Amino acid sequence: MQISKINLKNNPNLTFIANFLKPYTQRAYLVGGSVRDMLLGLELFDYDIEIYDINIKDFDSVMQKLGAKGFGKNFFVYKFRNFDMALARTENKISYGHKGFEVKICNDEKLGAKRRDFTINALMINIFSGEFLDFYNGLQDLKQGILRHINDQSFQEDSLRILRAIVFASRFNFKIADETLNLMRNMDIKDLSQDRINAELYKFFQTSYLNLGYKYLQELDLEKEIFGFKGDFESLEFQNLLKEARKIIKDEALFLYLYLNFFKLNKEVFFKKTRLKKEYLKKANQAFYLNDIDDFELAKIAFDMPLKEWLGLWDEKRVEQAKKLKLYENKFESKIVTQDLIDAGFFGKALGEKLQELKENELKEYIKLNKNT
Ligand code: CTP
Repeated sequence: MQISKINLKNNPNLTFIANFLKPYTQRAYLVGGSVRDMLLGLELFDYDIEIYDINIKDFDSVMQKLGAKGFGKNFFVYKFRNFDMALARTENKISYGHKGFEVKICNDEKLGAKRRDFTINALMINIFSGEFLDFYNGLQDLKQGILRHINDQSFQEDSLRILRAIVFASRFNFKIADETLNLMRNMDIKDLSQDRINAELYKFFQTSYLNLGYKYLQELDLEKEIFGFKGDFESLEFQNLLKEARKIIKDEALFLYLYLNFFKLNKEVFFKKTRLKKEYLKKANQAFYLNDIDDFELAKIAFDMPLKEWLGLWDEKRVEQAKKLKLYENKFESKIVTQDLIDAGFFGKALGEKLQELKENELKEYIKLNKNT
């Protein structure tokens, strides 16, 4: 199906911006991720608008008038509500690093779209007329679930795009086109700072198809570089675990929890190397059982949290088991009073051990009783 127009009328903020820009230009386009996500039927949070036919000086005053805030010094980019607005531009790599680009204003939509990473991210919708522009067959790739780069040279100039490809593949369950994968194999991410890498990793951790992203990380030989460790590429066991567990556990710490525990990595060393958020370390330290877990071990985890919060509750069998124990929604509430033990003369290590022993006995009783009811 060929799309030639898209109705944008049901977005009041967009209508407001279109009305505001109308006296200055007839060429302003919704671009990038917002068009892609709209066509995928996803909820939109941020919008990018690319504007033509206004010069830099006038653009600045038009944006001031709108009350938009400028950012990114050379890029003529302004923010208004959840809209990023920028003059159309071309980018030319002139020096090392992700900021080493010469930026020039551009007057041609096809050229403006050429600097973009993937065909699915180069779609444009005119915000006044609804006209749909697709210079690089992005719609077809979107329908077929393919991530394809637009231009060899500009793609290679931006190593962040390797990680972006992995994130998109993993988010949408998309395949990276062979020609793009081949190009990526000849690139490296050495010029990226750890912060930049981590920003993409945080996006990856939120995706639905972690197994696919992980497969690409391995295929592109990035696992060692990013995590300092290399899992067994031949083994599908971990990929299957990622896939199955993700269907149940939505928490963004799931990947690291499974990765660090499955491969038995030293978590402190890992977090020191990657400098990823410490809150993930806490979650990665939750109990981990690869195989079946008995009622007592499972119930013990509920000393600390309701089992629905446990990252290891990754299959239906465990969910059922937790529900049967009535520890799915609520954690186990012990009736043991620590003060009683202190009054009885326990302190320090002995106090901790006694407390644990009594709580475990109490839990065993609870399981027995619960089974009979
Ligand atoms: N873009 C690019 N190369 C990059 C970063 C961005 O080509 N290294 C282009 C893409 O066209 C992208 C758009 O700029 O769609 C907006 O970038 P960004 O907001 O980072 O990504 P989105 O595609 O909107 O994805 P997300 O949903 O993750 O924000």
